[in-house]
Amino acid sequence: MSFETILVEQRGAVTLITLNRPQALNALNSQVLTDLIQAFAAFDADPSQRCAVLTGSGEKAFAAGADIKEMQPQSFGDMYGSNFFAGYDRITATRKPWIAAVAGFALGGGCELAMMADLIIAGDNAKFGQPEIKLGVSPGMGGSQRLTRAIGKAKSMEMCLTGRMMGAAEAETSGLVARVVPAAELLDAALKLANEIAAMPPLAAIAVKEQVNAAYEMTLQQGVLFERRVFHSLFGSEDQTEGMAAFVEKRPGNWTGK
Ligand code: HXC
Repeated sequence: MSFETILVEQRGAVTLITLNRPQALNALNSQVLTDLIQAFAAFDADPSQRCAVLTGSGEKAFAAGADIKEMQPQSFGDMYGSNFFAGYDRITATRKPWIAAVAGFALGGGCELAMMADLIIAGDNAKFGQPEIKLGVSPGMGGSQRLTRAIGKAKSMEMCLTGRMMGAAEAETSGLVARVVPAAELLDAALKLANEIAAMPPLAAIAVKEQVNAAYEMTLQQGVLFERRVFHSLFGSEDQTEGMAAFVEKRPGNWTGK
């Protein structure tokens, strides 16, 4: 599959998606969204693919935001009428796990796109920020919500109100990213982690993703009940039978994803 604004390749069971508008620091225009929707849908539908990595081209930027030049002439009617950027909901609907590998700038929509991932792994040169306020607007792709849930109100409010960028080390201690690695090793580290996830029983991986995401949507009591029911349901899978037999027989599991 070839795209105008992204590169997609399959590396074993891992799909690597690379934002590829380096001349605009991978700014997210409508074509990027169209391409990402197709690439994530293809990844989700392909049984040979078990985890994805989304990254930026070059070390300078994951993505420096929504494309300001594309947004500049738009009116309220244009934005509201087209439900601008609602298409990103189709990316967050991806059922299989995926990782954002962030080097350099992840600003505005770039930070928001990274936060749509199941986890973020960052290069030590990563810079996260929600600078939309400096453009006279606000976060619009989930930043005010996902950043607040990830790092808490105080830091989120400070970042969204001032546009301050947060470096990789602070992002790790604040809980925004799972891990920081030297920028030069970012892609290898992300692919290694993705391969580790890809080697897990695929139904359980989807189930775990649903469970953890439910923590953002439900009360504790509802979430714990949801978790328990999902756990129960996995006892209907071949991989549960295999996984527990493999443990008892002291051998690796052989997953069917059924
Ligand atoms: C369009 C962008 C862009 C963007 C950078 N470029 N960011 N184009 N949209 N978001 C382009 C520049 O115009 C320039 O192209 C080229 O990329 C290189 O950028 P420079 O600014 O020359 O690089 P540098 O001096 O190193 O500065 C890097 C930077 C700066 C600090 C990241 O580019 C910057 O502040 N970018 C905007 C960041 C931002 O405000 N993001 C939030 C966007 S709003 P030319 O052709 O001019 O040389 C948003 C809203 C989300 O995301 C919600 C929407 C619903």
